[in-house]
Amino acid sequence: MVRFGIIGCGVIAPYHARAIEKASDAALVAVCDIIKDKAAAFSQKFGNPRIYQNYKKLLSDSDVDAVCICTPSGMHGKMCIDAAKAGKHILCEKPMEITKAKLDKVIAEVEKTGVKMACVFQRRMQANPMRVKAALERGEFGKVLFADAYLKYYRSPEYYKSADWRATWELDGGGALMNQGVHGIDLISWFMGGVDSVFGIARTQTHDIEVEDVAVAAVKYKNGAIGVIEGSTCAYPAQDTRFEIHCEKGTIVFSDAGIIQWARMGEPEEKLAQEKSECAPGNDPTAIGALSHLPIIRDLTDSIERDRPPAVTPREGRKAVDTILAIYKSSQTGKEVKL
Ligand SMILES: NC(=O)c1ccc[n+]([C@@H]2O[C@H](COP(=O)([O-])OP(=O)(O)OC[C@H]3O[C@@H](n4cnc5c(N)ncnc54)[C@H](O)[C@@H]3O)[C@@H](O)[C@H]2O)c1
Repeated sequence: MVRFGIIGCGVIAPYHARAIEKASDAALVAVCDIIKDKAAAFSQKFGNPRIYQNYKKLLSDSDVDAVCICTPSGMHGKMCIDAAKAGKHILCEKPMEITKAKLDKVIAEVEKTGVKMACVFQRRMQANPMRVKAALERGEFGKVLFADAYLKYYRSPEYYKSADWRATWELDGGGALMNQGVHGIDLISWFMGGVDSVFGIARTQTHDIEVEDVAVAAVKYKNGAIGVIEGSTCAYPAQDTRFEIHCEKGTIVFSDAGIIQWARMGEPEEKLAQEKSECAPGNDPTAIGALSHLPIIRDLTDSIERDRPPAVTPREGRKAVDTILAIYKSSQTGKEVKL
């Protein structure tokens, strides 16, 4: 049994609590929020685990084996480092951190202490992305030629006002790419074996925010393919996130609605069972499947029990952030940026 503490009792925290409740080898024993009433209400809703207002106190609780970091993105690094030093295993929300320096420090501390740390990229564990990854790895479609990710969300002005860290460089670390698009950027980079270089343009088109609400990038992937990434939070109405992968022997197109095309040259087009994504973006940031975090919690508890690396290690978790930071740098300098 892995005993969890949740740090940060905001929008995403219930997804962690529900997954812990559902997993047979996990229990929620402590919660923490700087706002005491929020922690208390959250605790009451999820079986009355112990309440803390200071995360360091939760980290010194010997009943806690692992922590879920659900605080604003720019706080993740410090909390992960403190958790690792306290010998706690970690499940960290995306993005793992928002600067290269802090990503480096987290990885160094986690590897030094040997705690297990996983990053929340729940889409990697959903049926369609797993099917695509396996088909590409088996070479069923041959060499990938070009591959695109279209990540067109909508977020209202009210969303941006709903917490004062949102859309700030200091704590959100960016906008349409760093907060929303990071999931899709992680997926396309995972499919392609990583990103080699980017040429990006990021702008703030409609929202009264300091970070970007639209960005595009031409991308060279590590597997030799090229492609386009587009991210936005001003596409109204929001579109299903969509991935188009063109290979020597055919094409895969899939979106939040399911697999749209699975076509191999010379073969009848396969009609695959349609499994909707657990992360339909819509215009609503909470439109995530209620149990979308369950496979991630199960993967982390299993990695602790079997002493193996979790599916999305810190070194994997940083890749999408590195790509996004390179797109921002390219947009500022007007030059291609190599990762
Ligand atoms: N995986 C996903 O699909 C997904 C979806 C939404 C958000 N997220 C990520 O989850 C994180 C949190 O986002 P959110 O929307 O839940 O934010 P939120 O503002 O709703 O919640 C954050 C909570 O952290 C608390 N907090 C702030 N500082 C703290 C501290 N020092 N100690 C303890 N608690 C503290 C706040 O009081 C707040 O309750 C972000 O990194 C975000 O990117 C992930």
